[in-house]
Amino acid sequence: MAKIGIFDSGYGGLTILEAIRHELPGYDYLYLGDNARAPYGTHSFDVIYQYTLQAVRFLFEQDCALVILACNTASAKALRTIQQKDLPVINAQGAKRNVLGVIRPTVETVPSVTKNGHVGILATPATVSSESYVLELEKIYEGLSGAGGKVQVTQQACPLWVPLIENGEHNTPGADYFVDKYLHDLFARDPQIDTLVLGCTHYPLLKAKIEQWVRSSAQHTKRGVQCIAQGELVACSLADYLIRHPEYRSQLSQGATCRYLTTENADRFSQSASVFLSTPVAAEHVSLPNFRNRS
Ligand code: DGL
Repeated sequence: MAKIGIFDSGYGGLTILEAIRHELPGYDYLYLGDNARAPYGTHSFDVIYQYTLQAVRFLFEQDCALVILACNTASAKALRTIQQKDLPVINAQGAKRNVLGVIRPTVETVPSVTKNGHVGILATPATVSSESYVLELEKIYEGLSGAGGKVQVTQQACPLWVPLIENGEHNTPGADYFVDKYLHDLFARDPQIDTLVLGCTHYPLLKAKIEQWVRSSAQHTKRGVQCIAQGELVACSLADYLIRHPEYRSQLSQGATCRYLTTENADRFSQSASVFLSTPVAAEHVSLPNFRNRS
């Protein structure tokens, strides 16, 4: 029987895993963090695609029938190519495997949250440069055009947020400084934003600070700026997917277990994971194929 694989460059995907296990507690999960090569958000398309493909193939080899890219950067840069180019080859060998991302379920909720169509995307430089959020939102709003929907998307790359979080510095004055800096830059470009998308799975750890920043500005508070985090959305979307796809659901074992794998030191992962999870974990170290050949 098969498991559900959850992949992130590092720890951020744990925010998604937690929400998924809350929604679908019965399945068996395998989490993989490529911590040794994180952060991905400052790498080029080709590097992110190759790293993500290695991780996905590895999770398939570990009997995962479904892999969730619990990483916006990997979803933005690698998902489409893996789905179009690599999955047909893998599935031609007789397997029934699929890879799902986190961007589509996130953008699908935006129209029900924004009142004025002004949306701010907070994400890694790689996700921002992919323009995935802009393109996906425009597509969704095109479909809504009969209802008079219009969207104006402004993106803000936040290159220092992931390193701050991965280094446990997200509750410090240093984090306050960079929260202020990036939100200030974003709202300076569109003061009408009423919806903020946390387009990186690490960012829920900064959600309280971001909301505090919004509250501290009378102008934004008045507009009722809403912050969208992804965990619950992705979890509900996976639950819905499994209802619609019995060919995957029937493959999945239901022992309610979860294993944690990392390309970094296992003790270090276990220790840092406690920042993201409510219960302690014992991680295992793994080496991904081609890992040593990286440039
Ligand atoms: N958590 C990843 C995301 O959602 C990004 C972290 C990284 O830059 O590696 O985009």
